Amino acid sequence: MSGDLSIRGLKKVFKTKDDEVVAIDDFTLDVKQGELVSLLGPSGCGKTTILRLVAGLSEPTAGEILLGGKKVSGPGADRGMIFQEFALFPWRSVRKNIEFGLEIAGIPKAERRQRSQFFLDMVGLERFADARIHELSGGMKQRVGIARALANDPEILLMDEPFGALDAQTRNIMQKELLKIMEKTEKTILFVTHSVDEAVYLSDRVVVLTKRPAHIKEIIEVPWPRPRDRAAPEVAAMRKKILRELEEENVMDN
Ligand SMILES: Nc1ncnc2c1ncn2[C@@H]1O[C@H](COP(=O)(O)OP(=O)(O)OP(=O)(O)O)[C@@H](O)[C@H]1O
Ligand SMILES: [Mg+2]
Repeated sequence: MSGDLSIRGLKKVFKTKDDEVVAIDDFTLDVKQGELVSLLGPSGCGKTTILRLVAGLSEPTAGEILLGGKKVSGPGADRGMIFQEFALFPWRSVRKNIEFGLEIAGIPKAERRQRSQFFLDMVGLERFADARIHELSGGMKQRVGIARALANDPEILLMDEPFGALDAQTRNIMQKELLKIMEKTEKTILFVTHSVDEAVYLSDRVVVLTKRPAHIKEIIEVPWPRPRDRAAPEVAAMRKKILRELEEENVMDN
């Protein structure tokens, strides 16, 4: 298995009682094993829908999605989803949250323990293993979400505005943490964000989407090695260029 993702001619139409919404139309994208690709686009353009389709939580109207050459036809442990609103289980401890997928997969207790410990250490929450979710800060909750996704050893992480609810400082810390995790695990990552700064800081490529139905307006390669200097003039220039493209889409909305 590899984490190569291939999305071909994807289309999603939502049918409501007396209306149809074309959320995605003819969307084609390849993401290579170990690559981090960001999706940026106006609100409501279809970003979450794309992640949900890749996760197998929703079925395409047309087109197909392949992961490691295998067709996606439902949810699976080869894809780990990290949601914006944390989506943790409040009645479980931090450790039990991280072990959730392993329990579902029927992994024996001793091995669950060992794996959850490994990822608790990786995200710096070893001291909070027995804490309840409400005892954690926003940044810590998101670390639990990331550890829970990694514990299942997925081929790809699907991250939907994972740091959107965090304050600016915590957000920067989490971005650095994610880069470290990327280095250690070499996971493929499909990352949705509204932040141009975040996209340019993290990504190998930034995919700018049009307003709904989402199709690709432009793909921008970010060529600099990480960690990147946000203040560097070439980085600022790239942010400006991407912002201009996004503004075009937003203006067309009015
Ligand atoms: N289950 C659903 N039933 C009907 N319509 C839906 C459903 N899910 C999404 N949509 C519609 O599809 C479009 C895309 O929604 P989506 O959540 O993918 O947008 P988004 O790009 O993630 O937006 P945001 O940046 O605000 O999170 C929207 O018009 C939304 O109303
Ligand atoms: Mg969304």
